[in-house]
Amino acid sequence: MIKQKFETIRAKSDLSREEAISFFNELLTALENGTVSVVENSSSGSGSSCEWKVNTWVKEAILLGFKFGNLAEINLGAWKFFDKDTLSYRSFTIEDKVRLVPGGSLVRRGAFVASGTIIMPPAYINIGAYVDQGSMIDSHALVGSCARIGKNVHLSAASQIGGVLEPVGAMPVIVEDNVFIGGNCGIYEGTIIRKHAVIGTGVILNASTPVFDNVNGNYIRKEEGKTLVIPENAVVVAGSRPLRSGKGVEEGVHLYCPVIIKYRDDKTGKAITLEDLLR
Ligand SMILES: CC(C)(COP(=O)(O)OP(=O)(O)OC[C@H]1O[C@@H](n2cnc3c(N)ncnc32)[C@H](O)[C@@H]1OP(=O)(O)O)[C@@H](O)C(=O)NCCC(=O)NCCS
Repeated sequence: MIKQKFETIRAKSDLSREEAISFFNELLTALENGTVSVVENSSSGSGSSCEWKVNTWVKEAILLGFKFGNLAEINLGAWKFFDKDTLSYRSFTIEDKVRLVPGGSLVRRGAFVASGTIIMPPAYINIGAYVDQGSMIDSHALVGSCARIGKNVHLSAASQIGGVLEPVGAMPVIVEDNVFIGGNCGIYEGTIIRKHAVIGTGVILNASTPVFDNVNGNYIRKEEGKTLVIPENAVVVAGSRPLRSGKGVEEGVHLYCPVIIKYRDDKTGKAITLEDLLR
């Protein structure tokens, strides 16, 4: 229904700020309670790999809030901030069962944060983002606009999950269930990390990054018109590959190249096991 409402709003040539803001607030609430989301799994049947589909209209609807917002002063305790008056921050209640630990984190309105999520300070979860049950968003971590974080994901300290509002058709970063992302990682440009994968400390992935699979002996690259996909259970660590052309060849210059060193085994499980007591 909210989608139809947006179609009507979008078609209006004389859309007023009041109408736009009223619709936008409804959208923010729907995003926060998870009835609307920027990406959804369009695969059919259980056990099959997720087929992620972008709801472009949701991104367009989010952009409406930016368009109709006016710069305003926001007072948060002793602090003064300045942002569009349409874009506020979320406040939780104890019933939400989200551990928002004190110390400089912010969840913007329009982000879905499921029960059992732990947010260590400082962390930032942007508009349109989706964080599913039992995930840990550690200190200095960013969940960018529209990014999707699955269930029981560990997003370690200082890891950055890039956001994307524009272009509206662009796939946001998707981190599927039970993925572990080590400290200081950067996952950008619609990269999909399949379930149970482990991304080692300091790995940076964007749509142009070739990843060498040392188990199967091939490079994983994004396919034409698609995004980079890290396979299920892959254990990826930072590596390098020698230049094949240009002046750097003689110099022995290497390019950055993440490597799948193996697929997850018991040892990996132990290396990334989380203390239940802390949760
Ligand atoms: C990926 C990771 C989990 C290791 O997994 P593991 O299953 O224990 O890996 P193994 O020890 O079996 O390593 C397999 C091979 O990869 C190498 N390797 C492992 N981790 C590596 C890394 N991060 N960088 C480079 N090489 C690595 C090992 O030396 C080994 O190579 P070898 O067989 O030639 O000796 C670990 O390196 C990692 O990144 N942990 C995340 C830590 C972190 O950021 N925590 C956040 C806390 S806030």
